Amino acid sequence: MGPTAPTDWLDIEHFREPIEVNLIGLINVTINMLPLVKQAKGRIVNVSSTGGRLAFCGGGYCPSKFGVEGFNDSLRRDMKAFGVKVSCIQPGLFKTPLTDLEKILKEKEVIWNRLPPDTKKQYGEDFTDAAKKEKLTKACLNTDISLVVECMEHALTSLHPCAHYVVGQDAKWFWTPLSRMPAGVQDFLLLRNREEPAVSHRK
Ligand SMILES: *[C@@H]1O[C@H](CO)[C@@H](O)[C@H](O)[C@H]1NC(C)=O
Ligand SMILES: *[C@@H]1O[C@H](CO)[C@@H](O)[C@H](O)[C@H]1NC(C)=O
Ligand SMILES: *[C@@H]1O[C@H](CO)[C@@H](O)[C@H](O)[C@H]1NC(C)=O
Repeated sequence: MGPTAPTDWLDIEHFREPIEVNLIGLINVTINMLPLVKQAKGRIVNVSSTGGRLAFCGGGYCPSKFGVEGFNDSLRRDMKAFGVKVSCIQPGLFKTPLTDLEKILKEKEVIWNRLPPDTKKQYGEDFTDAAKKEKLTKACLNTDISLVVECMEHALTSLHPCAHYVVGQDAKWFWTPLSRMPAGVQDFLLLRNREEPAVSHRK
């Protein structure tokens, strides 16, 4: 996941880690396995995220998942001639160690503590952003992880695997529809759920 925090709190290494793991790693595994997958007329099932359609948090996670999405169509089309089927799964927020809110907030606190005093002043010393985020995340968290596993199973074993699977009520009814709306609507809804920096011009 990498740390999620406002972009001006982060340095390039905070971005590099999730992009290396989620995007470069995924591409590398895929291209290294392709000869065998082609030979077997096998299947490729990528796990992206609803964060690959809508950037709901700062940090490297969403850029990495947007990258995964960016490869979606080309590989599927390139592999069609070889009888290789490609599916992409987009889970919403599921209750896993990845979405452990305590861990996320702790990571954020470490970054906050190292911020230059000027930046801290811009945000306000008592800036936490915790309470509101917690509300949104808790409202969205799916507890039934088997939903994702069932999609993986379908993608691997069914006669006609789907090109993409949107998993979880939050992804189906909130994140994915919101990702198709105008930027102004997205900003309005997402910004309502975060704390404003102290110096905000919007106040
Ligand atoms: C890609 O995978 C190969 C192993 O097949 C490994 O040697 C190489 O370091 C990997 N490259 C990157 C950029 O991860
Ligand atoms: C899966 O990931 C690979 C490597 O990034 C990409 O080439 C392919 O298009 C992706 N497939 C889907 C369905 O996203
Ligand atoms: C992949 O491509 C299809 C269209 O071919 C599109 O409907 C879908 O949203 C893309 N992304 C995923 C994750 O499947």
